[in-house]
Amino acid sequence: MYTRDPAFWRAAAVSSTLFMSAVLVILTVNTLQTISIGGSNVPTYDVINRQITYAYDPAQHEYVARAGGEELLFGRRYTEKEATALVARGKLVIQSRACMDCHTFFGNGAYYAPDLTRAWLDPIWASEYPGPKRGAAITAFVMHPFRIGFHVMPNLHLSKEEAQAVVAYLKWMSAVNTNGFPDGFGRAQSR
Ligand code: HEC
Repeated sequence: MYTRDPAFWRAAAVSSTLFMSAVLVILTVNTLQTISIGGSNVPTYDVINRQITYAYDPAQHEYVARAGGEELLFGRRYTEKEATALVARGKLVIQSRACMDCHTFFGNGAYYAPDLTRAWLDPIWASEYPGPKRGAAITAFVMHPFRIGFHVMPNLHLSKEEAQAVVAYLKWMSAVNTNGFPDGFGRAQSR
């Protein structure tokens, strides 16, 4: 059936605009719930007190990071407030040294050096330091980088306090559910 009645087309335009606006609002609310701190994909900062694992989840068809039991960072239990301040400090240090000029975070940045989204879980650290010593090992690397692969990371002269804040940021970031990004990281890890 086809009609040229303008009233019909006006009603169709108005109702589909209203319907799609409602869909947009629902999707926006859903996205905010997913990506906000404490939302379904992004843990609160005190996740740095816990063990982070990365395993294939058949229900989601991808590798998912999960927070397990307690695994303290630098031998201390941070309150949520302290953890929030530490991770925020780490982010400022990362911005001040422009780590993104070489690295990527959540895929953003340069591709000269490895993506750091899962650096905390990188087998280089995770297999050698499965327990609570990993924080100190990565802190030492960030302060005095040594050669792991082809390119060498320059010494950016971070103080210990700055490097520890960076590592807290890296640990928190590794626990964020990024819907399987970086692709292949979990497979490479379990090889
Ligand atoms: C000039 C480039 C450059 C800058 C700037 C840089 N890095 Fe790196 N980074 C590298 C390279 C290259 C590697 C790989 C080293 C290797 O394979 O030997 C690396 C490796 C790393 C690793 C180990 C990666 C892994 O998968 O475990 C971490 C962690 C890291 N960098 C953190 C940082 C942080 C934090 C900053 C900023 C404070 C930073 N980097 C700034 C070049 C850079």
